[in-house]
Amino acid sequence: MYGSENNREDSEPTAFRRAEKNYKLYYDNNNAPSKKKKNKQPIPVDLTEVLDFRSILECHHRNSELPNGVIVLQDKFSSPVFNLQNRPGFYFIPGALSIEKQCDLIKESLTDFPQPPNRTNHNAIYGPIQDLFVAANEGKVLVEEKSLVTSNEPNTDLSCRDGEKWKFTTEKEASLRKCRSVSGSSLLRKLRWSTLGLQFDWSNRNYNVSLQHNKIPEALCELAKQLAKPAMPAGVEFHPEAAIVNYFASGDTLGGHLDDMEADWSKPIVSLSLGCKAIFLLGGKSREDAPLAMFLRSGDVVLMAGEARECFHGVPRIFADKENAEIDHLETQLTHEDDICFLKYIQTSRININIRQVF
Ligand code: OGA
Ligand code: MN
Repeated sequence: MYGSENNREDSEPTAFRRAEKNYKLYYDNNNAPSKKKKNKQPIPVDLTEVLDFRSILECHHRNSELPNGVIVLQDKFSSPVFNLQNRPGFYFIPGALSIEKQCDLIKESLTDFPQPPNRTNHNAIYGPIQDLFVAANEGKVLVEEKSLVTSNEPNTDLSCRDGEKWKFTTEKEASLRKCRSVSGSSLLRKLRWSTLGLQFDWSNRNYNVSLQHNKIPEALCELAKQLAKPAMPAGVEFHPEAAIVNYFASGDTLGGHLDDMEADWSKPIVSLSLGCKAIFLLGGKSREDAPLAMFLRSGDVVLMAGEARECFHGVPRIFADKENAEIDHLETQLTHEDDICFLKYIQTSRININIRQVF
């Protein structure tokens, strides 16, 4: 999973790699008088080949027409489900999540989901961090507190070194101490993933059932069961056991990969998109197969089951600029004073929650 092609960089790039490079965010250095990213212009990308299931849906509603190779699975539910003729096991449900659901999931992804015992990419350096989102918004600073470590408090983290303990404190307090520190806002910006349910161990590339974990929250579990239905045989229920939450800022990408650590590939991965629009690449079973590009917007749901589980996929681009992010519906919803911090985050970010049955 999440393997990169870096070790093959000197050889001829694969078709998947070429597509990633084609859609990736590059800045125009020549026209920028200042070196600051803010003043640089993104180099325009040709998006004419990118499949747009929202316009396919609108067109289908108007005149029941579909582009070549696109199949509509069923029309009975409020959200039609699309399949692709040459990618069996791949399902796209445009706008499957209500605006309210999108807002709830964005809030949970920032507050509850990264809470210990769930692990995040920050665990390896700082150990478990409590209340990152709140601390970041309150301008708190994470400082190393060696003195707080007691002998009956074992270090349960896999990689955080013994004797290290990090705690949030005020900026003032942090400046008085001579210890290592990092701002909460910088940690929030660098939050890349959190894991729910059975914990995925990235260093060993497998699920580590001995790591302490909570069950996937009931509401998310129910939602995933409902959404998985089109990809499940009649009468068989999907059992969500693990989820990975990915956080993308402008310029962040998810390289081409396979999710092959689950025992039963007939079960779908249920993948939810929140926040800024992105480009998703769906390749074939080899990196040499040219991938299809498609837009993923906030509220879209993708299912990958069966043969599609063997297809390379990734996210080479998110659109974090106002014109292309397409999150107006979130901006009109997140207007309460308490919601401004969530709106600020999501205006330049994308969150992906992908839910899996492991066994
Ligand atoms: C993943 C994944 C896709 C996305 O996390 O395995 O493929 O839409 N995510 O972010
Ligand atoms: Mn994946």
